[in-house]
Amino acid sequence: MRNSDSTLDSIRAIRPDQLEDYKKYTMLGSGQHGVCFAKGKGVRLYDLQGKEYIDCTSQGWALFLGHANEEIRQTVYEQMGELGHLNQNSDCLPRYALAKRLAALAPEHLNRVLFTVSGSAAVEAAMKIAVKNVKGARKFVCLTDGYHGTSLTTGAASWISTKAAGIYTGFNSFSGIINDLFIRVPNPYLYRWTGSDNPEDCIDYCLNAARDTLRSGVSGPVAGIIAEPLQASGGQIPLPKRYLQGLRQLCDDFGCLLIFDELQTFCRIGDYFAANKYEVEPDIICIGKSLGAGFPLAAILIHDRLEGFGPLGEDIHTFSNNAIAQVAALKQLDIIERDNLLAHTNAIGDYFAGKLAALQLKYPCIGDVRQAGLHIGIEFVEDPATKVPDMVLGQTVKQLALHMGLILGEAGYRLNVLKIKPPLIITQPEADEVLSIFEAALQAALAKKQ
Ligand SMILES: Cc1ncc(COP(=O)(O)O)c(C=O)c1O
Repeated sequence: MRNSDSTLDSIRAIRPDQLEDYKKYTMLGSGQHGVCFAKGKGVRLYDLQGKEYIDCTSQGWALFLGHANEEIRQTVYEQMGELGHLNQNSDCLPRYALAKRLAALAPEHLNRVLFTVSGSAAVEAAMKIAVKNVKGARKFVCLTDGYHGTSLTTGAASWISTKAAGIYTGFNSFSGIINDLFIRVPNPYLYRWTGSDNPEDCIDYCLNAARDTLRSGVSGPVAGIIAEPLQASGGQIPLPKRYLQGLRQLCDDFGCLLIFDELQTFCRIGDYFAANKYEVEPDIICIGKSLGAGFPLAAILIHDRLEGFGPLGEDIHTFSNNAIAQVAALKQLDIIERDNLLAHTNAIGDYFAGKLAALQLKYPCIGDVRQAGLHIGIEFVEDPATKVPDMVLGQTVKQLALHMGLILGEAGYRLNVLKIKPPLIITQPEADEVLSIFEAALQAALAKKQ
């Protein structure tokens, strides 16, 4: 492998003081320009000045093995010498191998896999399969706090097209183009349930609301219910097992399909599929994010009894058959299995949760800690009794942590939920580093508040 390349050398020669000029040529789809990173290794990133950061976002939750994994690099390098991009209807062994491997890991009857390029495209493919299979259906039920992407269609199913943030967010520029496709039903957000002291009541309430909607709240048949088993972007909200099983029952009762959007739960929840963990067999599962070990790759898995796509162009994407992404995904699965990374994910996730529960006792502003595998959400409140969201504290902690070398994520519109979702390879000493910077940033933020 070459160590020096004239193209790479010319890129590396760009100086930090020249960035302002370069920024003019880049348009972002969301957010603002931030730290410019030069390299990464494992859970760490380094900026142009060499400052070190621990990355608890896995860059859009898309790197199970962290940055610059050497084994993935070797596999990809070798594959690149043989075959890379292929058109969708050209076959190749990596695609066969990955499809078979995923089917073996998924619930029993989900055995056909379609690859695509992004999560949004996967969710849309799942919706098309549902429409094909539920005759005459043109509607979908989705959940409050759900997030399924920002394509014109999936954005309409995501919180970004609602007034949940108190204002209409940027997606409002496009709301209304896709009309009447989705009907939202309430999600079982147990921490914010005020109906009674019993969380089971919240689950019943939400299932009843979904049942009422399917029965008398929709004009015409529903093709499917789309849900993330753990609502990540909307606030790191795990949906209870009984609720998810209840959704399965509702779909059976009303003849519509259950679509699990597992873009974020796949592996990170400490099991390959949340569907397995919660013992629910959906009709379709969508995966993506870390699936390609950092290469763009997403997929849907569909139930054996469903009709798939036909040969006449129902779902064509130029880049949906990339052998490099496919071998990266396979190598990553080999490593996850070899290194027992799912058990590790659960163990380290539990370790984080235990330490954060201790911090919660010390800092009443931590209203709730929610954890499943390495899906960790910390919800800040002004007062644990009233649970009024503290919209400022979370943001301040996030900014101060960044200065201290810790990259935290934030969840959706509430701005009061911070996320710790590092690569699954994070070690206990690294977790301790994260926790210690997090506490230092929290103390500094609280001192600022006074
Ligand atoms: C649950 C879920 N579904 C779908 C998507 C959309 O995926 P993509 O950004 O790859 O289109 C995301 C992205 O954050 C997601 O979290």
